[in-house]
Amino acid sequence: MPLLGLECKKEHPKSKRVGYFWTAVCLLIGVGSVAGCSQSAVMPNTLDPQGPGAARIADLWWLMLALGAGVYLIVMGLLVWALWRKRPNEGTGSGPPAADASNGGTKSRSQRLIIGGGVVFPAVILSIVFGFTLHTLSDLNGVRQDDPLVIEVIGYQWWWEINYPDQDFVTANEIHIPVGEAVRFELKAADVIHSFWVPELHGKLDLVPGQTNTLWLEADEPGEYRGLCAEFCGIQHAKMLFIVVAEPREAFENWLAAQQGPAPQPVGELAQQGLAVFTGAGCNECHTIRGTAANGELGPDLTHFAGRLTLGSGVFPNNRDYLARWVLNPHDLKEGNLMPAASLSDPELEALLAYLESLR
Ligand code: CUA
Repeated sequence: MPLLGLECKKEHPKSKRVGYFWTAVCLLIGVGSVAGCSQSAVMPNTLDPQGPGAARIADLWWLMLALGAGVYLIVMGLLVWALWRKRPNEGTGSGPPAADASNGGTKSRSQRLIIGGGVVFPAVILSIVFGFTLHTLSDLNGVRQDDPLVIEVIGYQWWWEINYPDQDFVTANEIHIPVGEAVRFELKAADVIHSFWVPELHGKLDLVPGQTNTLWLEADEPGEYRGLCAEFCGIQHAKMLFIVVAEPREAFENWLAAQQGPAPQPVGELAQQGLAVFTGAGCNECHTIRGTAANGELGPDLTHFAGRLTLGSGVFPNNRDYLARWVLNPHDLKEGNLMPAASLSDPELEALLAYLESLR
């Protein structure tokens, strides 16, 4: 049986051309797969880890890249060698190979190459990868601490409810954590399977309806880290993003204290009218604003909405322009989401925006 052309004694111009073709295809796939790893400007980079969990995963990735690249180069080298080398009977036509004394030696050399290259070598490579994977898993289990901050995350189509059970408040799509501390996340799903992934801090973990999965996150440096849903969950899966804000302990405590309080009372006539518009338009049926009569649970809690960086689950900047568009026609920005369009006059919209922007 021919392996890499080692025992192919015949010279077929056509089969050689086919060999060149597939060699070129393999080389292009190899180059293309490495080029595909380049990061776009907006996506978080798993190879720029900002926490101990992501760092261990990136180490494993680099090891696997190095081993994969080594194997690729060896296989390509053998393939090229097999195609270009001179056959013993090259140029003698298509007759059967001549029997000679060296035939037995070539055969045993081929068998050694098959066993060494096809069994022993892959077994060694896979054992190395398996060992480092177990080592990485063990390291990831070490990212935890006693008496941690607990954050419950519930995935909805297509946004994230963020619950701080010990501090007794709920927010959405933006998670604050203290820097340099391992935080325990309890992941749940309200409808379908989602997956919680902050690439710069840790690997991904599914949110499954009916069960709680636990993930530990730790950030080494203060910053805003983009998170995303990593499991296809419907038409707006790609717009199910969130932000993790890692901040020093003191800033985090201040944020916690502000979140625990009720929404600020509307100051000024316009904001007061806005609260009335909010209730009159039925927004309170789906949204909670603590400190008011609004206690709906279908959509995100809006108690301190204006303090958030984004709206539409991490997709749009939280500014007046996008907020107006979201209120008037949320499906224009995010088709298929559950929020109905509000039919408001210009003065009503103006008042509602003023009220929502006061919810700090
Ligand atoms: Cu949620 Cu994809």
